[in-house]
Amino acid sequence: MTQPAGSVLSLFWSPLCAVGSHGRAGPNAQVCLSVFGASIVPERPRLLVVLWKGNYTHALVTEAGTVAVTVLAEGQEGLLEPLGLRSGRDGPKLDDLETWLTPEGDPVFAGGAGWVTGRVIDAFDLGDATAFLVAVAATGEGSGAPLRWGAAQRVVGEGFLARWAEKSARDRAAAARAMRWLE
Ligand SMILES: Cc1cc2nc3c(=O)[nH]c(=O)nc-3n(C[C@H](O)[C@H](O)[C@H](O)COP(=O)(O)O)c2cc1C
Repeated sequence: MTQPAGSVLSLFWSPLCAVGSHGRAGPNAQVCLSVFGASIVPERPRLLVVLWKGNYTHALVTEAGTVAVTVLAEGQEGLLEPLGLRSGRDGPKLDDLETWLTPEGDPVFAGGAGWVTGRVIDAFDLGDATAFLVAVAATGEGSGAPLRWGAAQRVVGEGFLARWAEKSARDRAAAARAMRWLE
């Protein structure tokens, strides 16, 4: 999502999350601000997780059918570069990061505001992205305030923002070609 911070549409950004899964080459994770609650039945919690099709994590979630979602906490802005600007397709991203793996092999990040693991129930094709409906299997509490993109942008620095703008322009162009929209 590339609406300017402060736009009414920015109010729909979720807290920044690290969405992880696994494949033959091991675990991987990406930054995501499109993770939403999708159940009113307490004993059957669900999340809707929207991942862009070009992301390596998208391929892993599609194949493995499991995810681990860490809600990042304020102070974890340093994870946005490895997880949000780089792709696991270009090499392992998690080697220097503090994580633990779920029994399925999905990475949860230490120091987050909380975490959720789950299994994909269904996948909805948005054209450029997939909305994965996830049945929550386990949750854990963390500490700290959830990290929001509006606040994170004020501390990540000019270098990050320049690289983000360049990557976003490419991602937006690809999305515009592929996305479902009004006929
Ligand atoms: C602040 C921020 C928010 C992002 N939000 C999303 C998102 O909602 N959905 C998504 O698929 N990618 C999102 N991304 C992009 C992915 O994190 C990025 O493309 C990442 O490099 C993918 O890594 P992978 O190829 O290893 O999966 C976001 C990145 C940043 C920095």
